[in-house]
Amino acid sequence: MGPLTAPPARAVAHLTTRSARATWRLGERLGAALQPGDVVALVGDLGAGKTQLVRGACRGAGVADADVSSPTFAIVQAYRGRLPVQHADLYRLADLDELYATGFMDLVGGDGALLVEWADRLAGWAPAEALVIRLEEVAGRPSARRLTLEGTGDRHVALVEHLAASGTR
Ligand SMILES: Nc1ncnc2c1ncn2[C@@H]1O[C@H](COP(=O)(O)OP(=O)(O)O)[C@@H](O)[C@H]1O
Ligand SMILES: [Mg+2]
Repeated sequence: MGPLTAPPARAVAHLTTRSARATWRLGERLGAALQPGDVVALVGDLGAGKTQLVRGACRGAGVADADVSSPTFAIVQAYRGRLPVQHADLYRLADLDELYATGFMDLVGGDGALLVEWADRLAGWAPAEALVIRLEEVAGRPSARRLTLEGTGDRHVALVEHLAASGTR
């Protein structure tokens, strides 16, 4: 017997940004398209550009720039734009128990969009359907980043297609 339901849709796209500003703009395009329940998991080393992308996404979602700060100590920060946006950073968390204690898990699949830096720091929190954006430096090109976008589920597949259509700048 096969599974009772089809596996979720999946899409992958690769983009290269040539400046921090271009990564910000890609974030802005993402933010303008975000809907309640969307989960964006950002993966990449220190300086990869995760926060650049988040700041652009917050602008695109209508959050005032002044409200956006690093959640490194708070773990998760809530902003209000055209929809609620939650910005989390898992860098300093030791384990899932600590994450549960922050109330973060109550936000997953909630009525806001969730943007998570250092998403791969902890296993086990991510829902089955998410947009994973991996950012990597490019050897010999200090102002370039290679981005791999992987969307799972109809909503996140639509986001990948939307962002891939913006091309590389
Ligand atoms: N193409 C690019 N995209 C994003 N950031 C870039 C790019 N090129 C250079 N940078 C620089 O890299 C740094 C990225 O920092 P940040 O977004 O805070 O990274 P992270 O949150 O992943 O640690 C910034 O200083 C930014 O100016
Ligand atoms: Mg950061």
